[in-house]
Amino acid sequence: MAVKIAPSLLSADFARIADEVARVTAGGADWLHLDVMDGHFVPNLTFGPALVRAVRQVTELPLDVHLMIERPADFIVPFAKAGADYLTIHVEAQGDLTRVLKDIRGLGVHPAISINPPTPVEALEPYLSLVDLVLVMSVNPGFGGQGFIPEVVPKVKALAARPRSYIIEIDGGINAETAGPAAAAGAEVLVAGSAVFGARDAAKAIAAIRAAGDASRPR
Ligand code: DX5
Ligand code: ZN
Repeated sequence: MAVKIAPSLLSADFARIADEVARVTAGGADWLHLDVMDGHFVPNLTFGPALVRAVRQVTELPLDVHLMIERPADFIVPFAKAGADYLTIHVEAQGDLTRVLKDIRGLGVHPAISINPPTPVEALEPYLSLVDLVLVMSVNPGFGGQGFIPEVVPKVKALAARPRSYIIEIDGGINAETAGPAAAAGAEVLVAGSAVFGARDAAKAIAAIRAAGDASRPR
């Protein structure tokens, strides 16, 4: 399978969000990644369902909504109604995560789970049969533009090695240099924020990340 590239709108110009979506769509983005932060789970705040709905109105691309929020149970209905295709909660979040993942599927949305760099991969075990996607964080979440943490790569390998019905996504510090090792380990969806939106030519940046990923994919 060829890698998919999911530009993260965290690094987009929010005053021109429709233009930014158009720029990366024309540049070959496969999905759009939307980072929701609540100021509790991570030390930063971004946006809620209203922005997801606004983006939904200007694109047909799958919307990959990454919930870095402490209590995901309270917000899955508004994000599903806003048009999310994937709703990713964190294994480190609070509440009955099994229930939340089942409820996400019940809303007609793909359930997904994410894991922070310090959390051991075994923590995902109870949830792997319930999700369509596992998101391995390769930075500590909260901010774009951080450096890739190579120590998470064995987690990607472990997730790829087992019988599975989920796809594997990686998020944080992905660029044309780090996409190779991430894809070689088994990452299939590569999130990239600053490497895409920070580039003058987004199409070129996406193509470079894709080429590095595809060249390294296990066959
Ligand atoms: C980090 C977010 C990422 C972020 C990635 O908290 O979850 O999606 O936007 O940005 P880069 O690609 O710049 O590391
Ligand atoms: Zn993210």
